[in-house]
Amino acid sequence: TWAGVPAGPPDPILGVTEAFKANTSPKKINLGVGAYRDEAGKPYILPSVKKAEELLAGKNDKEYLPITGLSDFTSLAAKLAYGADSALLKDGRIAVTQSISGTGALRIGGAFFERHYPGPKVIYLPTPTWGNHIPIFRDSGIEVRRYRYFTPGEGVGLDWKGAVEDLKNAQEGAIVLLHACAHNPTGIDPTQEQWKELSEVVKSKKLFPFFDMAYQGFASGDTTRDAFAPRYFVEQGHQIALCQSFAKNMGLYGERVGAFSLTTESKEEKARVDSQLKIIIRPLYSNPPVHGARIAATILNDPKLNAQWESEVKGMAERIIEMRSVLYEKLTNELKTPGDWSHIKSQIGMFSFTGLSPAQTKALAEKAHIYMTADGRISMAGLNSHNVGYFAESVDKAVRG
Ligand code: LMR
Repeated sequence: TWAGVPAGPPDPILGVTEAFKANTSPKKINLGVGAYRDEAGKPYILPSVKKAEELLAGKNDKEYLPITGLSDFTSLAAKLAYGADSALLKDGRIAVTQSISGTGALRIGGAFFERHYPGPKVIYLPTPTWGNHIPIFRDSGIEVRRYRYFTPGEGVGLDWKGAVEDLKNAQEGAIVLLHACAHNPTGIDPTQEQWKELSEVVKSKKLFPFFDMAYQGFASGDTTRDAFAPRYFVEQGHQIALCQSFAKNMGLYGERVGAFSLTTESKEEKARVDSQLKIIIRPLYSNPPVHGARIAATILNDPKLNAQWESEVKGMAERIIEMRSVLYEKLTNELKTPGDWSHIKSQIGMFSFTGLSPAQTKALAEKAHIYMTADGRISMAGLNSHNVGYFAESVDKAVRG
């Protein structure tokens, strides 16, 4: 039956983890997937998450959640994203559903737009973008087009001129995907001034802003500051779509906790949108998993635990920033590795877009047991004081050829 099924390629990000696992060298380092590691290179369970689990222990049944998830969680997630003082929240105009983390949020969004968006079913994604964005929207039946965001080899900043030009030339009324903060893979975000200008461009072309916010708290260490872009767009009168993930900022990767929301024009419109979200979700997976949503809701609902969590997010962001300067120092001052490495320090969030070529990344895997995605993206969180020296020396060798 399946004789005609061709073998597919490994996933560009998760396939790196598979290759890493198959390597038996004690020196191996996985800088592929964006998953936080502590100073000892180990997965990190946030103390606030442990505390929430203690509070929850033995208190809950395992019943089904409603189709759109745990309402305590979804309202707190919306509050975290849109702000406690959001007028839309107060008016009950945000339709929100729990999702299977960020990917699930994007996929529900894709399905909703495919079915109900009155404009062109075309989405503009930045180049580059998170690899999974492309199949998510393609599989949702939305046509994928691109806008310039970063040009390799041409400095280290955002290709601002290219981005604005492409969005000004975009098809009127199309959808545009915006990384709310900590752009994956480049680690380069627009400034607040640039976001303001983008809001005008989006408005002038009647584009629909679709935000992916997978790293709230990881860009600046402050969840409020990191939510600037979607909040500003809402303030400016845009209707937005927003995908949230709690994988990174609460370290709830495998619990699959996320949310998808749409702002609406009235309570009545929200109710109609909610009903259609349910109609999309029910045949996909009925209802979402419960445990992680309870953890997130417990943290967000308790002011003391919430403050503790915020400081833990900041702690993760700070350890990554520290690794950026250590790596920069080693390459630039100790090893005098050819090239300008200042972008390692100026980029933000979990990743550094190193500029290493596919051939160099391949050499690093084969000769040094160091794994990263083929585009030269490294998860900074995979580095620590024990392995950063070996990593820098290996990069130095790869660059010198
Ligand atoms: C990443 O970009 O590494 C993460 O978002 C994890 C994933 O699912 O790809």
